Amino acid sequence: MSSKKQPLKSGEKILFIIFGVFFALAMIGYVVLETIRLRSDEPMYTQTTFFDFSEEGLKGSELYRKANCNACHRALRAGTSMGLSLDGLGSKYTAERIEQFLREPEKYYHGPTIDHGFPPKEAAYVSQMPAEDLRLIAIFISELKADPGSSVAKTPPPGRSEFIDTMVGTFVPQEWKEKYKDIREKQQEQPGQESVDE
Ligand code: HEC
Repeated sequence: MSSKKQPLKSGEKILFIIFGVFFALAMIGYVVLETIRLRSDEPMYTQTTFFDFSEEGLKGSELYRKANCNACHRALRAGTSMGLSLDGLGSKYTAERIEQFLREPEKYYHGPTIDHGFPPKEAAYVSQMPAEDLRLIAIFISELKADPGSSVAKTPPPGRSEFIDTMVGTFVPQEWKEKYKDIREKQQEQPGQESVDE
């Protein structure tokens, strides 16, 4: 009976060395990145989303959390990625418009909805919530702002972009151009909030 440990085989040694090298490189990379980030005066990542909540908005965020909206939505970078993200929605719609949607989604959408609407749709409960709750939730959502053109923004970057012009020119069918309005033209008329057309 020998309790002597078996020596490592050379293949095992090579695997350990490869793992060790990767681990060391990751650690060095992390330390270097953090050192640069902490010493730099400018933020390394540009901030494109803004959450500056009013008192009512904060109350709304609590109601939003309790109402389980995150089962289908993303907000404040939390929630599910399977449904619609609400981050940045406040840079596109006013609180009144969002509230109108929450109360009467089908009327508002001018077309069939998937989850919001009348029972048995899965989010039918939303329009049945107390009016005051919906008002506060709408204020919360209207305070989820994002810079136009950022990844969560519902609005394109301000001004003309040659890239977008080329994409629209190449890929958008002629009938869409007749049927839909280019929202960038609207934006130039009235910067900031999108106009409420009813
Ligand atoms: C069962 C899934 C589900 C739940 C739960 C849900 N939603 Fe939605 N939500 C959707 C879907 C899907 C849409 C797109 C409209 C539609 O087809 O119903 C939507 C659209 C929206 C929109 C409009 C977004 C836009 O860009 O026009 C808002 C605002 C919204 N939801 C807020 C809420 C809030 C607030 C709650 C919780 C009180 C909630 N949702 C709960 C699925 C859900």
